[in-house]
Amino acid sequence: MRIEDFKVEQWMNEWETTCTYNVAETCTYSVTLDQLFEICGGSREDFMDEFASRRLTYGDIEGSPALLRGICDLYETVRPEHVITTHGAAGANHLVLTTLVEPGDHVISVMPTYQQLYAIPTMCGARVSTLHLEREDRYHVDATKLESLCDDETKVICINNPNNPTGALLSRDELQAVVDIARRHDCWLVCDEVYRLLVQDDDACTTSPIDLYDKAVVVSSMSKAWSLAGIRLGWCITKSADLRRDLLSHRDYDLISCGMFDEAVAAYALGHADRLLARSRRIVRQNLRVVEEWVESEPHLSFVRPEAGTTCLVYYDYDIDSYDLCVHMLRAEGVLVTPGDAFEEPRSMRLGYAYSDDVDDLREGLAAISRFLRTL
Ligand SMILES: Cc1ncc(COP(=O)(O)O)c(C=O)c1O
Repeated sequence: MRIEDFKVEQWMNEWETTCTYNVAETCTYSVTLDQLFEICGGSREDFMDEFASRRLTYGDIEGSPALLRGICDLYETVRPEHVITTHGAAGANHLVLTTLVEPGDHVISVMPTYQQLYAIPTMCGARVSTLHLEREDRYHVDATKLESLCDDETKVICINNPNNPTGALLSRDELQAVVDIARRHDCWLVCDEVYRLLVQDDDACTTSPIDLYDKAVVVSSMSKAWSLAGIRLGWCITKSADLRRDLLSHRDYDLISCGMFDEAVAAYALGHADRLLARSRRIVRQNLRVVEEWVESEPHLSFVRPEAGTTCLVYYDYDIDSYDLCVHMLRAEGVLVTPGDAFEEPRSMRLGYAYSDDVDDLREGLAAISRFLRTL
């Protein structure tokens, strides 16, 4: 198999550990275990004592009952037998797409998005069509265009909701329209919803397509809304018994089970989901206000205000390639953002604005960007 470079991950791997301000981070400010216990009001000693007495086996191959319960509680109609645990959402996307997609299949993916959604189908030998999300549409899916891309061979439609990098969030009607198209064409609807629940408005849509459509396959993880990327715990959900059997069989070859410790931490966190989510929503909302003010104060920058998630695309009108801009800025000011070209969006940069719980810290990172822009 010819492997396509994963642009955003390569960019992060190269620079993430050496920058001063990581305005490229996409997780809501990750917690320590001590902070996790503090937020959730639990006892570190009780948790550790309980865990320390367990033999370190492969654990529950299909996920511990407590973890599966915690995941099910995030949806309306999901039962434990619908959930498959994985190593992060990255592992889930990989498992789902390499299981579903065969050479010659037609796959549609939104663009821009996380590269897995179109690169893996391409590497599997599929014919991939991309549905470009337009700035004028606030990066929402245009149902008419999506319908026009579908043909008799379309097997999978991939969406990412809320979207990385744009922060766009589909309304309930828009999501229903996508589901209706998938149903009409009898396609799988794969939805990477790793930023789900991180909404800016309390009454924004948090519906998952798994609660709307029997051929939906949804993917999420503990990394973004739950601030626990370090445990590498994700999942995919399908209500199809046949697909589940294939996914589990495939998973036997490359995963076996998720780590017992990772599962225990994830189950504990999801057992206190309300508290963690309240913290994450506070961070994304307070930080977006700072970003919004900053963009408005910068004459060469513009953006579509994100509705959810932790990222936004900021466009600039300087005559410089986005990789060059980002590298020069990093070297000059120690501030890391992601080049828009990593998402095929030239003349832009992706900001991850939930990288700190301290708005002054965020302001310093943005001020460092401003200082660099003055030199252009
Ligand atoms: C849309 C999207 N999907 C999946 C992932 C991978 O997340 P995880 O840490 O759960 O593997 C990311 C990480 O940035 C992402 O943005």
